[in-house]
Amino acid sequence: MVEPIEMTTEQQRVALLKKAHYNPFLLEAKDVIIDLLTDSGTSAMSTKQWSGIMEGDESYAGAKSWHKMRIAVEDLTGLTHVFPTHQGRAAERILYGVLGGKNKVFISNTHFDTTRANIEFSGAEAIDIPVKEAYQPNSKNLFKGDMDTKNLEKIIAEKGRDTIAAVILTVTNNSGGGQPVSMQNALAIKKICNKNGILFVLDCCRIAENSYFIKKNEKKYHHISYKEIAQKMFSLCDAAVMSAKKDALVNMGGFLAMKNSRLAEQCKNLLIISEGFTTYGGLSGRDMEAIAIGLQEVFDEQYLEYRIKSTEYLGKKINNLGVPLLLPIGGHAVYVDAKRLYPHIRTDQYPGQSLVCELYRTGGIRSVEIGSVMFGKYDKNKKLIAAPMELVRLAIPRRVYTQSHIEYVIEVFKEIMKKKKQTKGYKITKEPHFLRHFTAHFEPLK
Ligand SMILES: Cc1ncc(COP(=O)(O)O)c(C=O)c1O
Repeated sequence: MVEPIEMTTEQQRVALLKKAHYNPFLLEAKDVIIDLLTDSGTSAMSTKQWSGIMEGDESYAGAKSWHKMRIAVEDLTGLTHVFPTHQGRAAERILYGVLGGKNKVFISNTHFDTTRANIEFSGAEAIDIPVKEAYQPNSKNLFKGDMDTKNLEKIIAEKGRDTIAAVILTVTNNSGGGQPVSMQNALAIKKICNKNGILFVLDCCRIAENSYFIKKNEKKYHHISYKEIAQKMFSLCDAAVMSAKKDALVNMGGFLAMKNSRLAEQCKNLLIISEGFTTYGGLSGRDMEAIAIGLQEVFDEQYLEYRIKSTEYLGKKINNLGVPLLLPIGGHAVYVDAKRLYPHIRTDQYPGQSLVCELYRTGGIRSVEIGSVMFGKYDKNKKLIAAPMELVRLAIPRRVYTQSHIEYVIEVFKEIMKKKKQTKGYKITKEPHFLRHFTAHFEPLK
């Protein structure tokens, strides 16, 4: 498929950015030249997926397409209770809605924004415990997505095992810079969870990309396939949530899967109330066909090799221009360290938001801030409690852009570097209570 890109001038983009209140989520997609806002739901589907779509069975109950999706999920995860959902956060809302509530605690390597929001919305507390290297942009640790297992044991001891609703391992760790999680870490978490009788949940939306890094960097797994590595990781968990919009290579969909029959019964009730019947859960038959095929395709060796190498290509090139990055470069995105790029902009003036706006103004590139806009909180005196890092994510849609698009992004970064000293911070003028980055309004500081 060929999609035209509408070009804009810098003058037009200055006006468009102002109209969008300096928040790229509020821009029209047609006004974006290269869209690196997210890798979620932005994949190009394959010929096989499109032909599968033609076979979509739209029966309300027990559709053939559902059975194909169920078999694909079961084969991959080994989990026997599988529920389709319209996207990842619906699976999260159901599972964490059942498990959460006041006085409950969830522990994760890093909760993704919708994960945290769903947990906090239930009244529970969400605690992030990545390994300490996760917050050191230059550390060369190959598995910076790992969870700090010593801290995990400490928190369980402090809070009491009965208050811990679940331990959630997100692979790769999106909010922690798209960094991979090692099998060794997953094994250690499994052991701790087993010992304490705590549910171990895998947020597996980038499980194939994570498997790539395990195969490359954990000796024990060099000789087994990406899919077998994924299956091994799934064998450790009790439940999994997946946004199929990532590593199932589709534009919409997700699932929730688990071992425990009692928990499954509770989730099933919530699914029917809020998503749909158990054999479609908010999806059409054709969506489920595409998911079943995407879950196979994503483990293709050549696809994964190209995917990870092309992300690395962009990262290395802009890093050579002097753009500070979170290293090593992750699988689905390049994360720019905006705090080091703009040391003159204070965290409460959101250096990440400055870069996001500069990228759009200079080159029509859309990206997202993953820092104090996304994760900042206020103390009692309305003073900002900053996020641990001020990152900007350049997420690469799967199977969409060619090398020449990426070369254009590199050119734009050359311009960004020339004017970095003159770049100013931002203030927030309007924000909702939850997930503020999606709809907040900003103004540039003078
Ligand atoms: C790690 C992680 N978990 C959950 C989600 C939520 O998925 P969805 O956007 O499909 O609701 C995302 C989406 O970006 C994610 O990256």
